[in-house]
Amino acid sequence: MNIGLLKIAGLSLLLVLSRGEVSSAGLFSKKHPPGSPAPTNPPPVIGVGTNTPPPPPPAPVEPAAPGVLTWESDVKTYAAKAGELLVATVYYLTNTSPAPVVINSVVTSCGCTTAQLPPMPWTVEPGDNGKIGVNMNLAGKTGTVIKTITVNSTAGNKMLQFQVTIPDPQMERSANQQLAAADRQAVFKGSCVSCHVTPGEGKKGAELYNAVCGVCHEATHRASMVPDLKNLPHPTSRDHWRAWITGGKPGSLMPAFQKAQGGPLSEEQIDSLVEHLTQTISAQPKTNAVVPAH
Ligand code: HEC
Ligand code: HEC
Repeated sequence: MNIGLLKIAGLSLLLVLSRGEVSSAGLFSKKHPPGSPAPTNPPPVIGVGTNTPPPPPPAPVEPAAPGVLTWESDVKTYAAKAGELLVATVYYLTNTSPAPVVINSVVTSCGCTTAQLPPMPWTVEPGDNGKIGVNMNLAGKTGTVIKTITVNSTAGNKMLQFQVTIPDPQMERSANQQLAAADRQAVFKGSCVSCHVTPGEGKKGAELYNAVCGVCHEATHRASMVPDLKNLPHPTSRDHWRAWITGGKPGSLMPAFQKAQGGPLSEEQIDSLVEHLTQTISAQPKTNAVVPAH
């Protein structure tokens, strides 16, 4: 069978099927005899309900010829760590043919993926090795991300794949919750400090509240066990605020913020928070405090 015809017929078939208008039966009725040149025009689309002629099929993409460039691996996988934003991999190639291969271009499927290469065109002599480095920027990405890198050379087009799995923030959140359940002061230790302590350093009042209390109490997706301090179902007072900030509550996720109890806040900072909360939150509960909003 003539490959040119197959390809063109294949493309037209896709086109027709995607328009959902005709069956594929007519496509193959105009077979040309074996050995004759492939038709220059695609077979006509019949039974079409509109007068618009089908667009010409795109230029066929030559797949890579086998056994010319040999790849150590054409699919690379990487498991990113939490917070990792730039990840990298390397593809190794060898020219296993007796003739030089010229790589003309390397195209990535996304602006987030860039390739590091020698200048183009890049000639790989017979028996020579080369490598293509690829970076992926993970900003804003979740789950498993798969990007392709197309290497266009005199041996055809080779598709490389880079698969990166990004850790699930939900799983990290439950891991953090477990740590805090075992030790409610855990938020003030180790890797937790960067989000739960550092932002409040040197701050007071509203700023301090937003930095160290808001992270839990004002979170967009506030956890169910974290109360909304602006809608408490009971009265509040200076003493109430001070007691909670200072000592938190054993057996809950609310830590003790007072330095004397292993927390990060000075007495002066605690005073400023008590002041801020007393001024901004009414001492009496709102009447609708326990009624869910509609
Ligand atoms: C990258 C910043 C960051 C780090 C690091 C971090 N947290 Fe958090 N934490 C948050 C944010 C933001 C919230 C608010 C809820 C949300 O958006 O996930 C939160 C909420 C919490 C909560 C309240 C329950 C909840 O899920 O909302 C607990 C408990 C907690 N963190 C414990 C920890 C512990 C323990 C660590 C260290 C092992 C830690 N966190 C490390 C940002 C962080
Ligand atoms: C790691 C997350 C986390 C942080 C940070 C946090 N809280 Fe809490 N807070 C909680 C949780 C969980 C509870 C609910 C405790 C319970 O009753 O089980 C709570 C309860 C409270 C309560 C009691 C509400 C009531 O019923 O009257 C107050 C008051 C409070 N927090 C104030 C603060 C203030 C002020 C800050 C900042 C200095 C702060 N919290 C920081 C998690 C947090």
